[in-house]
Amino acid sequence: MLRPATPGDFGAIAALHTDSWRRNYRGALSDAFLDGPIEAERLAPWAERLARPGDGTVTTVAVDGDGSITGFVHTIFDADPADGALLENLHVRDSGKRAGLGTQLMASSAKAVLARPSPTGLYLTVLVQNTAAQAFYEARGGTRAGEEPWDAPDGSGGSTLVYRYTWPDPGVLL
Ligand SMILES: CC(C)(COP(=O)(O)OP(=O)(O)OC[C@H]1O[C@@H](n2cnc3c(N)ncnc32)[C@H](O)[C@@H]1OP(=O)(O)O)[C@@H](O)C(=O)NCCC(=O)NCCS
Repeated sequence: MLRPATPGDFGAIAALHTDSWRRNYRGALSDAFLDGPIEAERLAPWAERLARPGDGTVTTVAVDGDGSITGFVHTIFDADPADGALLENLHVRDSGKRAGLGTQLMASSAKAVLARPSPTGLYLTVLVQNTAAQAFYEARGGTRAGEEPWDAPDGSGGSTLVYRYTWPDPGVLL
């Protein structure tokens, strides 16, 4: 089941985000960060985001039967004048992958964008080395639009490369 995130979800979302980065972003973020302060670093931005619902962003969570959060997506409307809304974070619990949750979460993001008074396209960036997520986005009809640097949020001051994927018509995600 999907539902809008509530302010009290920040700890569970930060924990899932941390686990996902540790499993999937090794090599792109420093080991010192991934093995160290990452969870504490994730808590504050999620607490802040969820405390301000309706400020041009939407966060949706997937929950299982006992209410545990099994995935989430965060979307920022009107983030780019050309490409539209930014799907900033999409993560599914490792044990729940390939069961359709990522597809449902992307559809919820598309639905929110299309419900805006002035609907836009949808875009995201994905690490060049994250070939599994790229395969998922291509299966979801995304177009690889280019390559750009991403400032690693690990305090290293370094940057890594990401691809931009775009959906000029988010309706294809429904
Ligand atoms: C990428 C991610 C969000 C996809 O969510 P998911 O719930 O696993 O994806 P779905 O079950 O909805 O996938 C549907 C289809 O996408 C494609 N797909 C998904 N994962 C894939 C993979 N690892 N390799 C190839 N194709 C894949 C397939 O076509 C799949 O259909 P199939 O299982 O019938 O073959 C999820 O795997 C995840 O959280 N990954 C780790 C974090 C991450 O990389 N997030 C993206 C950051 S930009």
